[in-house]
Amino acid sequence: MPRTVLVTGGAGFVGSHTCVELLSSGHEVVILDDHSNSSPEALERVAKIAGRPIAATHVGDVRDRRTLDAVFTRHPIDAVIHFAAKKAVGESAQIPLAYYDINVGGTTALVSAMHDHGVHRLVFSSSCSVYGDTTIVPLSEESPVAPTNPYARTKLTCERILADVCRHVPELRVLALRYFNPAGAHPSGLLGEEPHGVPNNLMPYLAQIAVGRREELSVFGDDYPTPDGTGIRDYIHVVDVAEGHRVALDHIDDEPGMRVFNLGTGRGASVLELMRAFQDASGQPITYRVTDRRPGDVAELVADPSNVYNAWGWAARHDLAAMCRDAWHFQRQNLYGYAP
Ligand SMILES: NC(=O)c1ccc[n+]([C@@H]2O[C@H](COP(=O)([O-])OP(=O)(O)OC[C@H]3O[C@@H](n4cnc5c(N)ncnc54)[C@H](O)[C@@H]3O)[C@@H](O)[C@H]2O)c1
Repeated sequence: MPRTVLVTGGAGFVGSHTCVELLSSGHEVVILDDHSNSSPEALERVAKIAGRPIAATHVGDVRDRRTLDAVFTRHPIDAVIHFAAKKAVGESAQIPLAYYDINVGGTTALVSAMHDHGVHRLVFSSSCSVYGDTTIVPLSEESPVAPTNPYARTKLTCERILADVCRHVPELRVLALRYFNPAGAHPSGLLGEEPHGVPNNLMPYLAQIAVGRREELSVFGDDYPTPDGTGIRDYIHVVDVAEGHRVALDHIDDEPGMRVFNLGTGRGASVLELMRAFQDASGQPITYRVTDRRPGDVAELVADPSNVYNAWGWAARHDLAAMCRDAWHFQRQNLYGYAP
């Protein structure tokens, strides 16, 4: 059933790809983004790819109650997808209060406004980082959580707040999606990952080295207990993540209360494996240097994606080569991202 969906952080990396998916499947999309880590140009491109306009875009802060009231008053919102957050693990240790303020304060402000305006469907962007330092892989939703950095703790705190609210608001339906490592770009080459400043994620960093914007890769530690000593992550194509949100909306009314699902592929790749795959896709040499481990990083995070498959019949379809090919295609077409 087509819905009017409020997408916070809709101009960001995962948000913009999700908006394409929502528009392409007939939903109306309203966006709230302060563009602290995104460009309005991404939204022009979303509408271009989907061949349909975004219903409305509000530039503002998700913590601002007056902005939220205006959005919920003006649009007949049926469901909310909440991407807006800060996401850099390293930075979260430098400015933890800002992370709690934006990630946790943004979520409580949003849920409180939803409640007051009678909106009861929420898809929340959580993260595999909530599992933290673990030796058990693959990780199912029942695996213990042990976040190792402030960013991950903000995500776990939000999950716990949402579970508490669900216990008291029986009509509320929340799906917390724990993404593993979204990577890649839209195959059109129009949308991709273009964070402000130095990329915190590995794939855009590799892409910027390949086009000559950065010199070399710092590999944060090669003494982890993994086959080549570098950290292993479960990279999932951003188009798969976007599709996962569309499917989540189809299933949000299946059950009341809060449910948690992993969005991953079940296949891990080390830093050096991803680097080689990117070299193969781009034909560009990548130089790297091994440096100290980054505080808060862990050896291996790989999903057991079977719960989401059993519940919705949905699984990620793209492999690492497709992620590298599409990320490279975007970077080549957009040397300096969305800048003119
Ligand atoms: N990309 C990843 O590796 C990853 C992994 C797991 C979870 N997540 C989560 O997924 C979500 C989206 O991640 P992303 O990679 O697209 O990040 P992103 O930074 O590209 O997108 C976030 C968007 O939210 C906006 N935003 C930030 N603070 C805001 C505020 N206070 N008010 C309004 N807008 C605000 C930014 O401008 C940006 O457009 C985040 O919640 C992130 O924590 C991301």
